[in-house]
Amino acid sequence: MANALLFLGLLAFSFSVVLAVDNSALQDFCVANPNSQVLVNGVVCKDPKLVEANDFFFSGLHQSGNTSNAVGSRVTPIAVSQIPGLNTLGISLARVDFAPWGVNPPHTHPRATEVLTVLEGKLEVGFVTSNPENRHIWKVLNKGDVFAFPIGLIHYQRNVGYGNAVAVAALSSQNPGVITIANAVFGSKPDIADQVLAKAFQLDKKVVDYLQSKF
Ligand SMILES: *[C@@H]1O[C@H](CO)[C@@H](O)[C@H](O)[C@H]1NC(C)=O
Repeated sequence: MANALLFLGLLAFSFSVVLAVDNSALQDFCVANPNSQVLVNGVVCKDPKLVEANDFFFSGLHQSGNTSNAVGSRVTPIAVSQIPGLNTLGISLARVDFAPWGVNPPHTHPRATEVLTVLEGKLEVGFVTSNPENRHIWKVLNKGDVFAFPIGLIHYQRNVGYGNAVAVAALSSQNPGVITIANAVFGSKPDIADQVLAKAFQLDKKVVDYLQSKF
């Protein structure tokens, strides 16, 4: 009985791992139809006969993002919302701009592994493995360097060079999602009770209230 339960548990676990990336497509393409009222996992397909080149096209990624903000970085995503032809294809990308000492703050993509290529500048990058180790794996990257962030793990980048930095990230989902840790924890609406966060982060409640006011 216990063995059977263990087996079922393992089966459920491996099944969820298999589904941790986008499902494979069963047709050449399924260009997202933004006008459909039907809600499915992904987006309903546009009539293939009406599909055109612009459904697979985006222009303007040479333009730098505006980094005048509190963290000094800007992510420009090119996912299914920008290229409807990416629907069901399990891939997307993003441009990330960094002001000097700008940070792309600790965050995770619930649905994608990321491969980051530095186009300009010098970035310190890292991710943290899951409990109980919480091992911080990090490296300084220069122009042309490539680094992978495994699906689901918390990761960050910081500009440690003298000028601006630019990177392009490839992500293994049409819609990778992003959970920015500080915003999710201290900026949720409505708030998570400050008693919860005070215990979780081992902070005085006043510090929690201050952090909640920042996000
Ligand atoms: C960049 O963002 C800042 C802050 O929102 C804004 O004041 C500024 O006009 C923006 N710059 C450009 C070039 O859009």
